Order: sequence, then structure tokens, then C-alpha cells
Amino acid sequence: MKRRTALALATAVGVALTGGLAAAEEYKVGVLLPFSGVYAGLGAHIENGFKLGLEHFGADLGDNTITTIRADTEANPGSTLAKSKKMVLQDKADVLVGIVSSAVLGGMRDFIHNSGTPLVVANAGNNDMTGVKCSPNIIRVSFSNAQINRPMGTWLAKQGKKKVYLMAPDYAAGHQMMEAFRKTFTEAGGEIIGEAYPPLQGTKDYGPYLTAAKATNPDAIYVFFAGGAAITFVKQYHGFGIGKDIPLYGAGFLTSAAYVHVQGEAADGTVASLHYVPAIDTPENKRFQEGYQAAYEGKLGSEFAVQGYDAARLIIEAIKASGGDKAAFKAALSKVSFSGPRGPLRIDPATNNVVQNIYVFKNEFKDGKIVQTVLDTATDVQDAPNGCAM
Ligand code: BEZ
Repeated sequence: MKRRTALALATAVGVALTGGLAAAEEYKVGVLLPFSGVYAGLGAHIENGFKLGLEHFGADLGDNTITTIRADTEANPGSTLAKSKKMVLQDKADVLVGIVSSAVLGGMRDFIHNSGTPLVVANAGNNDMTGVKCSPNIIRVSFSNAQINRPMGTWLAKQGKKKVYLMAPDYAAGHQMMEAFRKTFTEAGGEIIGEAYPPLQGTKDYGPYLTAAKATNPDAIYVFFAGGAAITFVKQYHGFGIGKDIPLYGAGFLTSAAYVHVQGEAADGTVASLHYVPAIDTPENKRFQEGYQAAYEGKLGSEFAVQGYDAARLIIEAIKASGGDKAAFKAALSKVSFSGPRGPLRIDPATNNVVQNIYVFKNEFKDGKIVQTVLDTATDVQDAPNGCAM
């Protein structure tokens, strides 16, 4: 990726676009992502997408420039808090971006809230961070855990499923995603007949959990797993032959475009919901996918890459809107809206969470590879009132 050249070129274009009014400021962005551990692959996709976003939208920076510094969050709340403090207090970052795990986001919330430095969340869906513990400094461009799963409860009940078994990793995101599904599914008349929460780190064998789930004879199993855990879970679900009797549904991170090619035939038949599917047929998504595949060895851009891409665009749009005024930049972050690869996107001023479409999609194994097709779209999905007082 020839980012320097692209940004240098972009600067000249930016003067013309802004009528030469932009002040020349350097914005230091602290990128905090897992580059090791169970979510390492997700971190790589988000960073790739972020770099592509800087290339595609850098022309809007005017005379301003963006520099990045990066650190590995390892899905570890303690070390990430220390690294964020260093980025803000020592490195003087103007904005932080990233954070994959809900637990990591929870661990740095108070520091970010008190620091005055904004954090653009590019994954972690922790409901509380745009709910009861919301902050003017936390702006989320990815999703909330409730937002992804609420539409699926209603949708699955409509498909005639009555008894569902839940499974997710035992940490904040796993519990919040299952609670959101439970709420809308039971409101629509469904029943949760059992649930299990295996440890996030180090679960290699889902066999005992799957045996216990099967014994309850559910109409369907609904899960959240992501990254390496999703690959292992889907392969074992298929390997144990459970899918023949009990269909698998979930939050769409389960069969992310980042690794569904690794799951292959094991993902066949799984239906899930997500804020982005590569099959979306719009010029914005075509530009994103073509750029991503050209830059990254033909790999499909995933929802994680889109979150990085849109985070870069959000920061650039806020710089543009605040005309290079750093004091105005923070407030501008939560006022940005645009149409990107996932469709229309805006930040809800009541919570600072993103408002966006949620897509229900199915995975089918055809001609030796998985094809993902959108079955249904819930438009403009916004978090219900959730205790946020900004
Ligand atoms: C989370 O911890 O919030 C999360 C991690 C991976 C995928 C989706 C959500």
C-alpha cells in the first residue's frame, strides 16, 4: 500500500476541495488492536481496513496529516489500559481507534472518559459503553452487541422455531449477545431451553457442550463465537454431525468473511445476522472490496475490515468538518454520517453508537466454496433507550 504517496497527493487535492481554508495540523492516531491471542486475525483485518480507508478518503484531509502509532491489546484489559495511558499521556495521541474485546473496552472506559481524548471503537460491542456507562469520548462505528442480535430473535421466531439452546464465550460480549437474542425471541413467543458459556480463551473441545445441547432436543442452536473460536466451533459442530438434525444460527461473526473459507463446507446451512456482508451490491461496497482485494492478495474484505475502513473515514470526515481545529474535532466525530460499504451509517447523538442496517444472511457451500446471500434486512437499527445520559 503506497500510503505516503497517496496521502501526499491527497493533500494537494484537499486544498482544492476545502477552498484552501484548512489549517495544517498533524493528527496522531493511536491504533489499539489485538495482534496476538484468540482475536489476532480480527485485529489484522481492522488494521488493513483502516489503512485502506486512509488511502480512499485521505483527499478530504486538506493540508492536515494523519500519523499512526500502534500497540497490541492481546485481548488483555490490564495491559491495554497501560498502553492507552502511554498513548494519551506520553505520545499525545489526538484520538485512539480500535479495541476488539468488550472486556478490554470495559477496562479502559473510565480512563478514556476522564482523559478527554476520544476513542473511536472499531469493534468491541459492549452495550454499556454506549449505554449506562456511555461517554462523550467514546464513539462507536462498529456495532453494539444488542444491535446485532435483537433482530435475529424476532426473525427466528418468525421462521417457526420455538425452542432454542444458546451458547457463547463466557465474557461480557457472549452474555450481552445472548441476552439481546433472548429478549426479542421470548417476546415473540419462543423459549430458551438451555444455555452454556465455555471459557473464551483455551476452549479446544466443544464436544461436551454440544452433547449437552443436543440432549435438550432444541429446534435450533443460537450462538456467538468469533475468530479462532468460531472456526473451531463450526468445524466441530459439523464434525459431530449435529447440523443434520439441529440447524445452527448466530451472530454473523460466526461465519465472518475473514475466515468462512477456512470453515468451508462446515459452515453450509448456517444462518446469521451482521451489519456487513460482502454480497452487498452498492458502488461503495464495490470500491471497498476491489481496493481490499487488490491490496491484500485477493482476500475478501470482512465486517472487521469495514469497521477499520469506516473508522478511518469517520476520523477524516471529522477533521474535514472541523477545518483542522483540534478543539472542534472531538465534537465533530459524533456528528458524522455517510454511506459506506455496509450501507447508510450515522452516529446516534443520544448514545454515540452507530445506527445502521442489520442483514440476515445464509451460508451455502456451492462449487467448492461458501456463498453468502442476504435473506432479510432490518434497516436503520438503533439501540433502544439504554440508560445513557451524555
Ligand atoms: C466483543 O468482545 O465485543 C466482540 C469480539 C469479537 C467479535 C464481536 C464482538
